[in-house]
Amino acid sequence: MNENAISAENLTKIYTRGIEQVHAVDHISLDIRAGEFVSVVGPSGSGKTTLINVLGCLDNPTAGILTIDGRAVFTDGRSLSERQLTRIRRELFGYIFQKFYLIPTLTVEENIMLPFTFFRKDGASENVSRLLHLLGIERRKNHLPGQLSGGEMQRVAIARALVNNPRILLADEPTGNLDTARSEEIGQTLTELNQKQGLTIILVTHNPSLAQTAQRTITIHDGKIKK
Ligand SMILES: Nc1ncnc2c1ncn2[C@@H]1O[C@H](COP(=O)(O)OP(=O)(O)OP(=O)(O)O)[C@@H](O)[C@H]1O
Ligand SMILES: [Mg+2]
Repeated sequence: MNENAISAENLTKIYTRGIEQVHAVDHISLDIRAGEFVSVVGPSGSGKTTLINVLGCLDNPTAGILTIDGRAVFTDGRSLSERQLTRIRRELFGYIFQKFYLIPTLTVEENIMLPFTFFRKDGASENVSRLLHLLGIERRKNHLPGQLSGGEMQRVAIARALVNNPRILLADEPTGNLDTARSEEIGQTLTELNQKQGLTIILVTHNPSLAQTAQRTITIHDGKIKK
């Protein structure tokens, strides 16, 4: 991977609500080095989700430059094709959302395998076994999400985000629905993934102790990085 996993220059995302314009991300410039673990904090509505969605190529910026692993993805209004973006999303990124988005009618194992229903990859089942073990949910593999605790569901969502061996993990409040002990477990899991596998992690959280597990914390206020 390039030295910088992600590089943003004057990245801007403006939403239009009626006659009002919301500068959700306002000229943000930042570099995330490959293998870095960064947390993103800031008040509700400050633009954290918008920022990581844009960094993760899930949403187009209005202006600015975004480079992922040395590749220009968005350059002042121009972007790669949808096909190229899809490829970057599935080959480089893993995503964890605050709402777990597990499919209730699929078992734990099937939920983790879900990315492979959209594209084939060798070694899928070995990878799933490894992740079930890593996240301590082996005994739950044939259960349905409705039979799991919140912490277990979140670990399934993490396993699913990791099943395609991403280089960059984006997590938007992954412990938002969990108690302190479960949040700490998730924090430890992320730290291990970062240290042992060199996974680049960007973690949005309202939880100060979880934010501190990262090597660097970025604070967002009104769409800007607070110095
Ligand atoms: N789809 C949208 N259309 C219009 N405005 C939006 C949209 N999504 C977000 N916003 C606005 O952009 C700003 C940033 O929202 P965002 O969801 O990024 O904040 P956040 O920091 O993630 O907040 P929270 O901590 O509550 O999750 C807010 O003012 C929000 O109302
Ligand atoms: Mg948010």
